Amino acid sequence: MHVASSRKKIAIIGTGYVGMACAIGFAEFGHTVVGYDILPERIRLLQRGMTPYREAGIAEALARHLSEERASFVEDFESAVDGADFIIIAVGTPSLSDGTADLSAVEAVVAQLSPLHLNGATVVLRSTVPPGTSDRVALALRGSAEVVYAPEFLREGSAVADFLSPDRVVAGAESAEAGQRYCALFSHLNRPMLVMSLIDAELVKAASNAFLAMKISFANQVANLCDGLEADALEVLGAVGHDRRIGSMFLHPGIGFGGPCFEKDLKSLIHVMNTANTNASLLEATLEINDRQPRRIVETIKDELGDDLSSFRFGVWGLTFKGGTNDLRDSLALRVVDEILAAGGQVVAYDPSYRDGATESQRFELADSALAAADADVLVVLTDWPQFAKIDERAIAARVRRRLVIDGRNVLDASALRDAGMTYRGIGRRRTVDSLELAETG
Ligand code: UGA
Repeated sequence: MHVASSRKKIAIIGTGYVGMACAIGFAEFGHTVVGYDILPERIRLLQRGMTPYREAGIAEALARHLSEERASFVEDFESAVDGADFIIIAVGTPSLSDGTADLSAVEAVVAQLSPLHLNGATVVLRSTVPPGTSDRVALALRGSAEVVYAPEFLREGSAVADFLSPDRVVAGAESAEAGQRYCALFSHLNRPMLVMSLIDAELVKAASNAFLAMKISFANQVANLCDGLEADALEVLGAVGHDRRIGSMFLHPGIGFGGPCFEKDLKSLIHVMNTANTNASLLEATLEINDRQPRRIVETIKDELGDDLSSFRFGVWGLTFKGGTNDLRDSLALRVVDEILAAGGQVVAYDPSYRDGATESQRFELADSALAAADADVLVVLTDWPQFAKIDERAIAARVRRRLVIDGRNVLDASALRDAGMTYRGIGRRRTVDSLELAETG
């Protein structure tokens, strides 16, 4: 643990994965954190050291900081913020049906803060908000607190590690001093500190997520072309990513991006662009490509088995929107499962986070191991859980009756599966032999 030169009291409003990464992260930096949530049952869970979501390293760190009294959780808003040097707002901003962000939770927190004597506390907004929101918050709190907008770049599943090791710290602020006060919390990390206006920082967040989503849709389009040309997208995109100007991260083709952030943030940004009369076609295409991408799985299945899937049982590996989480929100894996069911197929699914998930069991069966789910006609991989790649290919081949694997995340070893007698179809993967074998035989 880093021992902060001056220990601060930091109140965290909202204990979702962003708020909790902040709570654990600032406690690791040596500060005293007090968490508050509108859900009292969530607070009682956290007081007992339990978290409702799967995040690497969080359970151990939470237990440690609770016992060392660096972290506590309270059901009362005023006692959470009382005497705080920083008040971090990390509440949800979900999408409304027209694509705009629902800011009611942020507004409710600001309304609770407005009448309080905040004694010069710095209020730090970390929720993703449309440009202009932080200026309005600053106006509402003028005279009692200065406002900072600090966008978060945390990924679910690795949020604590991302918090402790940021590529950069961005602080939009009403005054340079307020921005620097917030940045000082991270000064020991020696990372770039970027202080700017509130609206610029809001746009850093929006543009970062839009760019990452665009990179994934780009990778998916290249992969779809590779499928059509019998080329290998992993070779192509791997080599493209070696160019430092491009970079290899977020160039992995698959069934598309899911989860609670990218689609919601893109829709919100498109809405803002439309309102500002700015062409949003690049972002609209990013969403459109992503919307179509999951259909590739059922198309590939039909290509192999014909249009009538009613006599087939599909073993599905993975339901969450990505490996390492227990989050099903906007999971494209669930979309693909629905499409298989709609085409008449039966589904038995395995996900390491949902061994007994009663909620899904109405529509399809849940298996309690990957190999139990592979006891099917066809195996379909929909989430990139790393443990799937470690399962012995011969054990897979011994179970999957039609000897067909559709790998929607390109996580399995195509050659080993082919050696075991399976037909392997990935996203942008050659149907027959891999390129090395091609080079050797050619
Ligand atoms: C994303 C951003 O990566 C974070 O920087 C940001 O803070 C967060 O949204 C947010 O705005 O709160 P997250 O949604 O947790 O984080 O997950 P990612 O790891 O970005 O993955 C999003 C989706 O894209 C997943 O479905 C993943 O499987 C998919 N993906 C990712 C790909 O299909 N290909 C890739 O190369 C990378």
